[in-house]
Amino acid sequence: MPLPRLLDAVLDRLVVPGYSKMGYAVRRAGFRALPAGCLDGRTIIVTGAGGGLGAATVRGLVALGARVEMVVRDRARGEQTRDAVRDEHPGAAVDVAVCDVSSLADVRRYAAEVRDREPALHGLVHNAGVMPPQRTETAEGHELALATHVLGPFLLTRELRPVLRAGATPTSPSRVVLVSSGGMYTASLPTDDPEFRTGTYSGGAAYARTKRMQVVLAELLADDLAGDGIVVHSMHPGWADTPGVAGSMPGFHRVTGPLLRTEEQGADTIVWLQAAAEPGHSTGVFWHDRAPRPTHYLPRAAETPQARAALWTLCVDATS
Ligand SMILES: NC(=O)c1ccc[n+]([C@@H]2O[C@H](COP(=O)([O-])OP(=O)(O)OC[C@H]3O[C@@H](n4cnc5c(N)ncnc54)[C@H](OP(=O)(O)O)[C@@H]3O)[C@@H](O)[C@H]2O)c1
Repeated sequence: MPLPRLLDAVLDRLVVPGYSKMGYAVRRAGFRALPAGCLDGRTIIVTGAGGGLGAATVRGLVALGARVEMVVRDRARGEQTRDAVRDEHPGAAVDVAVCDVSSLADVRRYAAEVRDREPALHGLVHNAGVMPPQRTETAEGHELALATHVLGPFLLTRELRPVLRAGATPTSPSRVVLVSSGGMYTASLPTDDPEFRTGTYSGGAAYARTKRMQVVLAELLADDLAGDGIVVHSMHPGWADTPGVAGSMPGFHRVTGPLLRTEEQGADTIVWLQAAAEPGHSTGVFWHDRAPRPTHYLPRAAETPQARAALWTLCVDATS
């Protein structure tokens, strides 16, 4: 039975119970199983798929019948994960492609290659994520978290638009998912210094603000792509025990360890957004544990139309 809405909202606002494995355990009781084979015939790209939530997403998607392309930076690591997926799911259609999503040149190269070989694409999951310990610039001069979470996903989505459009049907849209973070609640949309050139840089702050940008970007892309039969959603996975969390936030990992979700539990809503009927009928929504969530707890904190327009302009200008 679905969790009563009030209890679900209380779990959400209390953060620890909602984001941890407790929240997942309570809500899961109300989840409906996704039908076997519901992703048969669908081709889905997942970035950052070599480990953590990305690899768990790949496992969840192939289990439902999808053909999956894993985008990784390190081919050897990707192939190791791919082999493990094939062992677990014999006959799974899963391949590895190399692309550094923080490099706009590499994103362009990879997207052109996909357009050349794939007649249609049905799903795209922007999962790759970083929390840089100090301010780092890509070769193209962009702050690394911004490039990885925002500029790369924006460009990859737009470059793959023709194949996503080709994959969409009137009853079954193509689906783009941006994996954000509950940490985005702590940040507002940066307007005057999106590249974090001034002020005291912290990886946590850069992470949170670019995760906030992902949520707004999903809404903007949803509008932009609506006419092409492509839906765009963002989500947060709660707190899951992954190499990224252990490596980037060792203190947090130590304290919350026993409460952390498994990778599968963290990836559950990502898979659901690609597979379930409900998110195919909406677009531009922010989700957690298979339910829409507010993007701000205080309505007055919502972005101004000018700030939203500035984010769009930033993405367009950086990728033109
Ligand atoms: N785990 C959580 O509790 C949690 C909570 C909130 C949000 N998230 C979000 O969930 C996503 C996955 O996180 P995770 O916990 O699974 O982290 P993770 O274990 O660090 O995995 C992140 C993946 O992204 C890849 N990646 C990083 N930069 C890349 C780039 N430029 N190009 C291509 N791939 C790149 C990494 O590849 P390499 O192997 O090459 O480093 C790695 O496979 C992230 O977006 C993160 O922000 C996670």
